[in-house]
Amino acid sequence: MKIIAFVNNKGGVGKTTCSRIMAEYLSKEMNLRTLGIDFDPQCNFSNRFIQMQVDTTSREGRTPPIHPHYDPDDPNDSDWDGRSSIAEIFYGQGVTPYPTYIENLDLAPAYGEKLLAAESVRRDEVVEKVHNRLAEFLSSDDVREAYDAVVIDTAPSKGPLTLSVIKAATHIVIPTVMEEQVIEGVYGMMQLWMQESLRRPKNNPLHLVGILPTLFKNTTLLHNQMLESLKENQELSEYVMPVKISNRIVFPELDSQNANPHSIFDLPNSNKAKVEAVKVFKYIAERVFA
Ligand SMILES: Nc1ncnc2c1ncn2[C@@H]1O[C@H](COP(=O)(O)OP(=O)(O)O)[C@@H](O)[C@H]1O
Ligand SMILES: [Mg+2]
Repeated sequence: MKIIAFVNNKGGVGKTTCSRIMAEYLSKEMNLRTLGIDFDPQCNFSNRFIQMQVDTTSREGRTPPIHPHYDPDDPNDSDWDGRSSIAEIFYGQGVTPYPTYIENLDLAPAYGEKLLAAESVRRDEVVEKVHNRLAEFLSSDDVREAYDAVVIDTAPSKGPLTLSVIKAATHIVIPTVMEEQVIEGVYGMMQLWMQESLRRPKNNPLHLVGILPTLFKNTTLLHNQMLESLKENQELSEYVMPVKISNRIVFPELDSQNANPHSIFDLPNSNKAKVEAVKVFKYIAERVFA
């Protein structure tokens, strides 16, 4: 089972958009049994696939809906409230993924309040209570038997939640906008990757697929100059991916619940955004499943 995570401690660089397209590519185009995991308390990735509910009683006001398989009259279901999220791994509870509108794709949604609470443990408890929990969950027989691939969307942070993703992943991709401040952040992610790589046993390496230029504007001098300088940068050049994602209005348009078609892969084959998405996500998939 391959576990692909999109990480960058900066926000607005396309992590959620890439996670979504990756999950759709693996499940729809490659017919792999795929599990999407939303590790960002903001729940954006979850919202792309299921209708999250507003929780007016909490600060992070999003909760997963009642699970379609939950039956309040079934005694087996008496010990849960009908909602499930990936945050259950921090509370010793089972995770029941939700089906999505895509046949081969299930989702373990975020739960803002619970993820934030899990992350706020004492410093001396964080290793035991947070860092290894996702890796443990993903190495369970149930998950390994049910899925071929896992795609994880992460929060814009280098905190304990993101660390637990780095510890669980087999592959990471660092999406980045070609702007100075964002690229400064890329060094931080590279450091996390190197530290984790040193810690990993030889038979379970953490692969960096690469740094993926996103929201790229061909007509913008800055973007072109930054990309060229990255490709010449001694420390980073070998990791810069030879593909990129352009800034196109179709990506935010597809975020809408009412978007029709719903997935970029349901657009006509001649559509430029689809051509580009196929190229990028095929490139990633080929490296992951090599
Ligand atoms: N290639 C793109 N072209 C245009 N808009 C994009 C593109 N990728 C993402 N966006 C938009 O930019 C915003 C931030 O993207 P998002 O994927 O949510 O980033 P992150 O998860 O890193 O914060 C969203 O509104 C999204 O729809
Ligand atoms: Mg996001």
